[in-house]
Formats: sequence, C-alpha cells, structure tokens
Amino acid sequence: MTRTSAFGTPSRRAVLAGAAASAGLASVKPAWAQGDQPSLRDLAAARGLLFGSVAGMAPPGRLGGSLQDPAYQALLIADCGGLVAENEMKWAALRPDAERFDFDRMDQIAAFATEHDMALRGHTLLWHHPQWFPRWLTDYDYGARPAAEGERLLTEHIRGVTARYPQVVSFDVVNETVDAGTGALRETSLSRAMGQEVLDVAFHTAREAAPQARLCYNDYMSWEAGHEAHRAGVLRLLEGFRKRGVPVDALGVQSHIGSGNTDDSVGFDTAQEREWRVFLDEVVGMGFDLEITEFDVHDKNLPLDFEVRDRAVADLAERYLDLMLDYPQTRTVMLWGLADHYSWLQGLWPRADGAAKRPTPWDAAFKPKPLRAAIERSLTRAKPR
Ligand code: G3I
Repeated sequence: MTRTSAFGTPSRRAVLAGAAASAGLASVKPAWAQGDQPSLRDLAAARGLLFGSVAGMAPPGRLGGSLQDPAYQALLIADCGGLVAENEMKWAALRPDAERFDFDRMDQIAAFATEHDMALRGHTLLWHHPQWFPRWLTDYDYGARPAAEGERLLTEHIRGVTARYPQVVSFDVVNETVDAGTGALRETSLSRAMGQEVLDVAFHTAREAAPQARLCYNDYMSWEAGHEAHRAGVLRLLEGFRKRGVPVDALGVQSHIGSGNTDDSVGFDTAQEREWRVFLDEVVGMGFDLEITEFDVHDKNLPLDFEVRDRAVADLAERYLDLMLDYPQTRTVMLWGLADHYSWLQGLWPRADGAAKRPTPWDAAFKPKPLRAAIERSLTRAKPR
C-alpha cells in the first residue's frame, strides 16, 4: 500500500521505491532513480548543502500553481530537501488588511514540506519595494505617531508569521530594498513612517521571534554590466548592518542568471566573473554566509533550437554553480522552479521568436534536461561545508 501524503500523492519513499521497482521502465527513470545514483537532495546534504525549489498554490494549471500538480510534487519529493513558497508568504498573499492574516495557502505549502521531510525557507517577511506592497499598506494612514504605528504593523506581521511557521530554517527577512539602477534604498509607506530603521527593526524582530532561523537579506544583484551600482548599494547596506550590530546572517543571492532580461549578455566572461568574485569576497569578508535563493537560467536571447539552447543553459549554470559553491559560505541552492512551464519567466520579457522559455531542469513533459545533469555535476564537485 503506497503511503500517500495529505495531498494524496505518494510519499518520497514510495516514489523512490516505485521508480526503482519499475526496472522495466528504466529508460524513463531520471538518472537518480536508477537506484545507484543519489538524488540532488542527497548529493547536497552529503556536502552540508540544502538543495530545493520553489512551489506555489495558485489555481491549478496556472503560473504559480506548481504545487497543485502531482507530477511537480513528485519531482519535489524525489529531488528536493528544501521548499519555499513562490508567493504565499508575501504580504500580498497573507494580509488582506492591517488586522487579518490568511494563512490557508501557506499552511498547505508548509504541510507538504513537513509531510515530505523538507526544510522550509521563508520568503519573505518584508519585500521592501513599493511595487510589491499590498494597496492597503501603501495607502495606510499611520496616524499621529507614524513611527510607532509602523513598528506595530511590522513587528505584528513578523511575529505572526514566525509563530505560525517555527520550522522555517532560513528567512528572507528583507527582499530587494536596494534600487538596482542607483544603489539607493527604496522608500515605501513604512520607511516614510519609520525611517530606514524599518530594515533594522525587521531583522531584530525576526531574530527575537525565530532564533533558530538564518536571517537573510535577499536581492538579485548580478555580475552583469550595468549592475555595478546595485552591487555597491548592497555592500553599503550590509556594511551598515554590521556597523549597527543588526542580526543578519547571510546574503540571499537570487541567481536569476542567463541572457539578460534587457541586454544581449548571455553569460559572464572572465572579466565579469572577476567582478563577481570581488563582490562575493567583500560579502563573505564581512562574515556573511551566502544562500542561492532563486536559481534559474533565462534563455531569452538564446537560439531557438532546444539542443543548442539547453546546452548553453547547462554550461552557464555549471560554471556559475561551480563558482558559487567554491565559497564554503554557500549553504543553500534553491531553484526558482523545477519545470519550464511553471517558470515565472514564461510571463515576462518574451523571446523575439515568441517561443516558450526553457530555464529549469525539467521540461514541460517533466523530462530531465542537461541542466539537471549540470546541477548534479556541480553538487558532486562541491566540497563539504
Ligand atoms: O494567482 C493569480 C491568478 O489567479 C490571477 O488570475 C492572475 C492575474 O492577476 O494573478 C495570479 O497571481 C500572480 C502570481 O504571480 C501567481 O502567478 C500575481 O499576479 C503575480 O504578481 C505573481 O508574480 C510573482 C512575482 O514574484 C510577484 O510577487 C511570481 O509568481 C513570482 O515568481 C515572483 O517571484 C519573485 C520573488 O518573489 C522575488 N525575487 C524575484 C522573483 C521573480 O520576480
């Protein structure tokens, strides 16, 4: 009798046993299921790394709805030791207004992680970016004592979320608050009410409420040309945290790599790689760990041909992961999607030929691509940490 989870899907053990038992279908089993190769989860864990992916509870069949798909669930169960909610832990999903929390969809994601013995990442306690504030928070009336009211709102939110999900191993406490173009700190209704202390309050509150969790500042800075100000702004922010004794443990490096969303750069050359290492050396030099939090490989400007495109994606990914895993401070590799048709990239920056994107390790038929083998090789080469 196959043990199934609350989602009615086979347990991880059953998926592995079933895959191994179906020897007759060896040709359709992914490499790790041949019985003699570990999953990406086990490869990573053997080196002190957490490997996992995002999943979402949007309506079935929609972008953001991957966890509603049993085939996607099976990939998570078989290959992932970590899970992070694509949208369900954001203010926009959790907070219909200043008084209420709606945990329903996030609860289902947390339950799936518990059911399948996966570590849960918390994304994100404060996406400090006006574009991603719920309307009611942007328009909120902070009253006669705005700083106090802002602090009440923020601390209540963080305490509410951390109390609901004490199992979270790592939080993106603050997400994307450095303007990529200028390096300046973004302003929101909360920072206008509280000043930029809003960031320090978020981390101090998270530390007090979730002492077991690693606390991250998460952002999409990159080595690509044009990201110099973004990198400099993030370094200034991290230096400030250190100077003020703010409890920040790690930099979340989102790692949405590949053909630039706006330019034709596809990868990084040695000069850019050198720039990136200079940045990472400064970060770890300040005592921060690194977490790859949202890895995928944008193929917007790559050739249409699947074989050519998948090979270029895999090659870039392998070089990037080898570099990042060269840092013993890198503790986590989380993908922002396991299967192409659920990737957020399908909905933005369309390819000139209008073709679907291929940014993740499995294709829309849940067949593994060269990117999965590239990730496996990088994890295999990684030194224990
Ligand atoms: O689920 C609803 C659907 O019912 C509705 O019909 C549709 C049209 O409005 O919207 C759907 O919700 C969308 C959701 O994705 C699920 O697809 C939201 O509008 C859309 O804003 C949301 O986009 C998410 C985006 O963050 C903004 O929150 C993406 O899924 C998600 O992949 C993306 O993830 C971010 C990280 O949080 C931070 N780093 C960058 C990364 C990529 O942008």
